[in-house]
Amino acid sequence: MSAELRVEHLRKVFSTGHPPVEKAAIDTVSFTVAAGEIVVLLGPSGCGKTTTLRCVAGLEHPTSGRIVIGGTAYTDPAAGVLVPPRSRNLGMVFQSYAVWPHMTVRQNVAYPLRARKTPRAEQGRAVQEALELVELAAYADRPVTQLSGGQMQRVALARAMVYHPQILLLDEPLSNLDAQLRLRLRDDLRRIIKRAGLTALYVTHDQTEAVVLGDRIGVMRDGKLLQLDTPREIYNRPADLFVAGFTGASNVIEGTVQGSQDGFAVVRARSGETLLARHGSGLHDGAAAKVALRPDNITFAPASGPNRFTARVASQHYQGTQTVYELAVLGTTIEALEVGSAARWDVGAEVTVGLPPELCWSYGA
Ligand SMILES: Nc1ncnc2c1ncn2[C@@H]1O[C@H](COP(=O)(O)OP(=O)(O)OP(=O)(O)O)[C@@H](O)[C@H]1O
Ligand SMILES: [Mg+2]
Repeated sequence: MSAELRVEHLRKVFSTGHPPVEKAAIDTVSFTVAAGEIVVLLGPSGCGKTTTLRCVAGLEHPTSGRIVIGGTAYTDPAAGVLVPPRSRNLGMVFQSYAVWPHMTVRQNVAYPLRARKTPRAEQGRAVQEALELVELAAYADRPVTQLSGGQMQRVALARAMVYHPQILLLDEPLSNLDAQLRLRLRDDLRRIIKRAGLTALYVTHDQTEAVVLGDRIGVMRDGKLLQLDTPREIYNRPADLFVAGFTGASNVIEGTVQGSQDGFAVVRARSGETLLARHGSGLHDGAAAKVALRPDNITFAPASGPNRFTARVASQHYQGTQTVYELAVLGTTIEALEVGSAARWDVGAEVTVGLPPELCWSYGA
């Protein structure tokens, strides 16, 4: 049965080097994954994603905090509770395929059931069901060494799901696959996990993977969870400048807050022009502000509307199905994306651009 996962005030301090230096790999992280929900932890290398996952698995002993699965505490150092990994009934899939090379597909998937001494008839049924779920039933009797990387990873997935774990943990399961296969399996993974109704915690540093797979995304940095929200909220209302930048809002326009208008903050840019942006928390009049904006949210040559500015094309990078422009505007340079195979503006051209106010987010500088 899939269960709810609660991670409460989790903290993990590692001590390394001579003399030893203490560093918090996870710094007071709390979140809940509802039964049947997929939560993706997203963040740059070293931000603490794997350590969080390993704490849930029981492979890592946190310094403090609790891991509660289905209402039962499995890790609670303050109470001396630490249930070993094998007794947690969790499924795990890692970056390396970790399948047994001397076994067939069927033997690999049946292994956890044999270890659990599941009755033979039931084993056969469960293995068949898991293989059908990952669409490998036709490969059941092949040695795993004769499979592609993507197929091996699906064997690993079937093996992690065959005993109906309480929670499925996945750590960058697609990162060893080539680009094309990664895209295909990415779409398959969500469908497979949803069909099995599993609670899943999925770790990646790939934002598009997070968006496609997750019901919610938790963005981490330096051991902290900065925002946990639906992909739409993360992409349309990033909590801070880091979340905005990490999910692709690479443009930053600097300025000063000068009051408000129509529910938006009025920000005076370096050029002296003013733009409307969503109010950042704690930004009072006169405060320095940074306005973040995605290149793909900029409109070209809008006929009307607020936040229209004249920009000069500084460079043009034609990519076939889209064109990336560098635009000199508002006293700085920003990137804008034009979708389609026609690149309509040449270097040096002047173009009116629209920066939709609800997609301009201001933060304290
Ligand atoms: N066993 C360990 N001993 C000391 N420090 C560790 C240990 N394991 C992890 N760390 C440190 O904890 C921090 C978080 O590591 P973690 O592996 O959780 O990052 P990650 O987000 O999974 O990164 P990546 O995307 O590179 O896999 C890093 O600074 C790492 O160096
Ligand atoms: Mg990792």
